[in-house]
Amino acid sequence: MMRPVLEEVHERIRAGGPLPFEAFMRLALYHPQGGYYATRVPGSGGDYGTSPSLTPWFGRLVARELNGMWEAMGRPDRFTVVEVGAGRADLAAGVLACAGDLGDFGASLRWRFVEHFEEISELQRRRLGALAASAEWSQQLGPDSHNQVGCGCVIAHEVLDNFPVHVLEVTESGDVCEVYVAAEGGRLVEHLGPLSDPALITAAQAAASWLPPGHRLEVSVGVEGWMGEAAAAVAGGYLLIVDYGDVEPDLWLRNPRGTIVTYGPDGFGEDPLADPGLRDVTAEVNFSAVERAARRHGFEPQLYCSQRDWLASLGHGELAEGLERAADRATAEGRHTEAMALEADLSELRSLVGRLGYGDIMVFRAAKAPPALAP
Ligand SMILES: C[S@@+](CC[C@H](N)C(=O)[O-])C[C@H]1O[C@@H](n2cnc3c(N)ncnc32)[C@H](O)[C@@H]1O
Repeated sequence: MMRPVLEEVHERIRAGGPLPFEAFMRLALYHPQGGYYATRVPGSGGDYGTSPSLTPWFGRLVARELNGMWEAMGRPDRFTVVEVGAGRADLAAGVLACAGDLGDFGASLRWRFVEHFEEISELQRRRLGALAASAEWSQQLGPDSHNQVGCGCVIAHEVLDNFPVHVLEVTESGDVCEVYVAAEGGRLVEHLGPLSDPALITAAQAAASWLPPGHRLEVSVGVEGWMGEAAAAVAGGYLLIVDYGDVEPDLWLRNPRGTIVTYGPDGFGEDPLADPGLRDVTAEVNFSAVERAARRHGFEPQLYCSQRDWLASLGHGELAEGLERAADRATAEGRHTEAMALEADLSELRSLVGRLGYGDIMVFRAAKAPPALAP
């Protein structure tokens, strides 16, 4: 029997012809019965890891960032983090677990999860245990004004690289066409066709002037609407996006075949048409497009840097030095089990800023209404 995602892809192609890659990616990741993210999340036992799933240190450092936002907003009684696509809730767990040490800020802190899939919400509730008392769940980010929080921060950690993207290709004549998914002899194959959405024209023209024939790039049309919802989700506050990506034109120039890759039970891959629903499909985030959309929706960009630099500004270096000293002391005093545990902790903390790894992830922060964060 054919898997539900594959069945629906073939059904849609039979009914309406080749599907824009964007529609295919949406089914592969979010089909309610078989989409990759309908039942799976990254982290231990998953196909890949993320910073919050690697170590609670990430949540502890993010708590410092959130504390700074709360201070800059004049210490409001209630500060709500609206986290989109929280996976196993490891970031919330890391932050909320240290809320007790954060004084008035900790007492003001609430967490709202925006999660499409009930099964994943359940997983998040179980993961949080008693900490779930400070949390609530919503299936949508917006646009419900009753749902708006007063002061807070919308966080999307490794979420935008899973937004379905249109894939464009520059033709010999310098025009731009779009990649579709078609069926040939029961197999899924690529097919080039005209742009499927007028919203792609501006991006296509901008990129075509930089790229030679045959070069590909991805465009997320959805980021614009999502940004509007993010802006509506908080009356005043912040937006924090942490993800793999780059700015124009560097992002476009990176790889002639674009940036789409997959992660599945057999590891890293480059063929998104293989086994739809069984693999994660990601495209690097275009932070120039994110910045333009953020400005259009009333956010003032404040920060764009690597995770390495961002965590350094939050005290990563001092934390690592402290752990290193503690591990050395434990070794010198013959407490070898403790020393090994501290070394393991330190190694995870260091991974967060590693080169060719988590440290290269980009961080974008923008503010809506409140004063700028202190440097
Ligand atoms: C790569 S996982 C990241 C999970 C978690 N943030 C982490 O870093 O461990 C991406 C998650 O974002 C979710 N997601 C993608 N687009 C979303 C959207 N528009 N609204 C809510 N969740 C979304 C996916 O369902 C998936 O669970």
